[in-house]
Amino acid sequence: MSHHIALGVDIGGTGIKAAPVNLKTGEFAADRYRVLTPQPATPDSVGKAVAQVVAKFEPTKKTPIGITFPGVIQHSVVRFAPNMDPSWVGVNIDDVMRDYIGREVHTINDADAAGFGEYLYGAAHGRDGVVFLATLGTGIGTALIVDGEVMPNTELGHLIVDGLDAEEYSAESARERHGLDWDQWAKHLQKYFSEIERLLWPDLIIVGGGVSKAHDMFLPKLTLRTPIVPAELLNGAGIVGAAAGAAHAKERADAAKKKASAKSSKGASKKF
Ligand code: BGC
Repeated sequence: MSHHIALGVDIGGTGIKAAPVNLKTGEFAADRYRVLTPQPATPDSVGKAVAQVVAKFEPTKKTPIGITFPGVIQHSVVRFAPNMDPSWVGVNIDDVMRDYIGREVHTINDADAAGFGEYLYGAAHGRDGVVFLATLGTGIGTALIVDGEVMPNTELGHLIVDGLDAEEYSAESARERHGLDWDQWAKHLQKYFSEIERLLWPDLIIVGGGVSKAHDMFLPKLTLRTPIVPAELLNGAGIVGAAAGAAHAKERADAAKKKASAKSSKGASKKF
């Protein structure tokens, strides 16, 4: 990878976190900086807050910047964001970020970023086959990584389990909201991950989100045929995956530009 450092920004329902990432090791190159997500979390208020955290690290013009978002981003347009202000839907997030930060950035769904981070540097490092990652937080984010390629926007946190959106009882926020103890919550997770197994037949399941730090409290209670492990990058996976995703995207764009200019100069020399 030609870029050594990239900046990752993780937009969440409660906090916006950022750190420069060493792309060789997947480690933070400086301490993470966090601000509260402004409420209401509209495109303008979030754009401003992201610009503030980015400015803190004074990235050079060449530093790739990757930003996660807790919702579906289809070709740069936010299509669905149940845990953010509804005014995001239909908005081109790349335009918003460019307006506030003053340069191009790479945006990606938060769980997809976490999945990519875990594939490059964490629990799924170099792992071929089908890897399923679920981040248990305010909502449930999911990523499906097949032979190292992330299939974007899988949204399997909204699978219907027992007639309800799985987020209702299996997200980390559901434990508090419904006053569930670890045993009760694990029963919901058991149903959720059994359904995932039934439909996807993954080779590995990774559980991310802040609660993955307490994996001892719930992972041993699950009976699944698929190995299930905690995320290794813990809550940093989104930042790391966003940074690495931005660096990859920049490299691909630079390579495409080079190819196009080589082609056009070849064409020109042929003509004259
Ligand atoms: C959203 C996902 C997101 C997840 C975690 C869900 O409610 O639909 O897009 O990845 O929350 O933030």
